[in-house]
Amino acid sequence: MGLLYAVIGVLWARSCRSKVRLDNKVTIITGGNTGIGKETAIDFAKRGARVILACRNETKGESAAQDIRQATGNDNVVFKHLDLASFKSIRSFAEDINKNEKSLDILVNNAGVACERQLTEDGLEMIMGVNHFGHFLLTNLVLDKIKESKNSRIVVVASWGHSLIRSINFDDIQNEKDFNYLNVYCQSKLANVYFTRELAKRLEGHGILVNTLHPGSVRTEIFRHMNPCTKLVGYPVALMFFKSAKQGAQTTIQLAVSEEINGMTGLYFENCRPVQMKPHALDDEAAKRLWKLSEEMTGLAPPQSL
Ligand SMILES: *[C@@H]1O[C@H](CO)[C@@H](O)[C@H](O)[C@H]1NC(C)=O
Repeated sequence: MGLLYAVIGVLWARSCRSKVRLDNKVTIITGGNTGIGKETAIDFAKRGARVILACRNETKGESAAQDIRQATGNDNVVFKHLDLASFKSIRSFAEDINKNEKSLDILVNNAGVACERQLTEDGLEMIMGVNHFGHFLLTNLVLDKIKESKNSRIVVVASWGHSLIRSINFDDIQNEKDFNYLNVYCQSKLANVYFTRELAKRLEGHGILVNTLHPGSVRTEIFRHMNPCTKLVGYPVALMFFKSAKQGAQTTIQLAVSEEINGMTGLYFENCRPVQMKPHALDDEAAKRLWKLSEEMTGLAPPQSL
């Protein structure tokens, strides 16, 4: 059965066909040192962009940046340290970007983890902490830069897994009870979808496109293939079971660069096309609630005492 899906997946896989150039554009890819993040970075570099690989491990980040410079002939590919499990690191990364980059045209929130229960530097449960809260803080801290830039785009790499659960566990957001990393992973991906939709609303009128996606093309049992302790690196390559990283990056690239996306925002894509989400993923109240909670938990806003 898996093989059949694999064959169908490869045959049906769509690619981003846009020839658009990204000269003079500044792009950031979290977890850009590996897997689909790296393939996305290679694509942006080929289009002439300045590419910032935002990742935790300096050795791996520098080495990936060098690979990409060599492979593409684009010297403007750099590593900058970002640990999404640390508010301090996120703040210092954002400060660097705000101070030193002339614009921020494309932000790709790509990094993701799935592991047994552990805590971030700030005491958040790790999967939600990195996949959602860290990216929430990062995006908000560089948002003015993104607003100043023309026709900028934000791409949030979620997963089809967001549709496997009904809701975010608001009563136990730290997932202290009955921890199951697959369930928490799916919650973090639903959080990515809520974040995308709420952010798209908040940015109405700014000409910024915010979209989310599942990186594979075939709905399948992705979780069987996930390493339970994939640590803080790019989006786990294991998720790409049926597709090469290059194929897996196509929807991300499409959302980041293609003219076909013009005018589309707040949407969820699979295989380079917008897909209707299930009702629970379209729950605006839940999205608002998560936004507010995230502001408080990341220290972006003081705790509400309504
Ligand atoms: C970074 O990656 C290198 C190479 O895989 C590894 O040896 C090193 O321990 C890693 N450093 C950290 C801080 O995780």
